[in-house]
Amino acid sequence: MKTLIVYCSSHGTAEKAARILSENLEGEVLAVDLRRDKVNLNPEEYDTVIIGGSIHAGSIQGKVKHFIVKYHDLLLDKDLGLFLCCMRRGDTAIEQFNQSFPINLRKNSVAMGLFGGELLVSKMNFFERQVVKRVDGVTEDVSDLDIRAIMEFASRMNSRPVLV
Ligand SMILES: Cc1cc2nc3c(=O)[nH]c(=O)nc-3n(C[C@H](O)[C@H](O)[C@H](O)COP(=O)(O)O)c2cc1C
Repeated sequence: MKTLIVYCSSHGTAEKAARILSENLEGEVLAVDLRRDKVNLNPEEYDTVIIGGSIHAGSIQGKVKHFIVKYHDLLLDKDLGLFLCCMRRGDTAIEQFNQSFPINLRKNSVAMGLFGGELLVSKMNFFERQVVKRVDGVTEDVSDLDIRAIMEFASRMNSRPVLV
């Protein structure tokens, strides 16, 4: 069983989630940062594809959107997992999730995860610091990463029936 995790992460939270998933998924796992890792990706070679990213100003990263468009039809034939990191909770988080991933991918997913988020002020640029201070009233690093949701996601992915 081979799993590909593709993700984008601006300050390291989605990357952390991808790493926890890699450590807890059964079989061979490759995690690829779509912005930083220069690898020749061939999702065709994997049984399972997990796509993740984070929300900034209401949108998931463009490289995640691009990956979804490029491999859309192929993804429908895979065991699929989708995850999102963001600070909003409840209906707003669900709305952001639904805007990030097209409905037919969501319908075909084995697991979908909202993993919460972190505001890592120490890693932000000047502009981002101003935004989170104004919008969230945050001036120091805060973490609301939902480790339990990540572990539940991993266990759902691991419990798929496997044809032998
Ligand atoms: C400039 C900025 C804008 C953000 N906008 C949103 C937003 O619109 N909605 C939301 O839920 N979270 C928002 N967040 C919170 C991020 O989704 C959160 O920090 C997430 O953990 C980032 O993950 P990453 O480090 O993997 O990119 C924003 C964070 C920053 C720094």
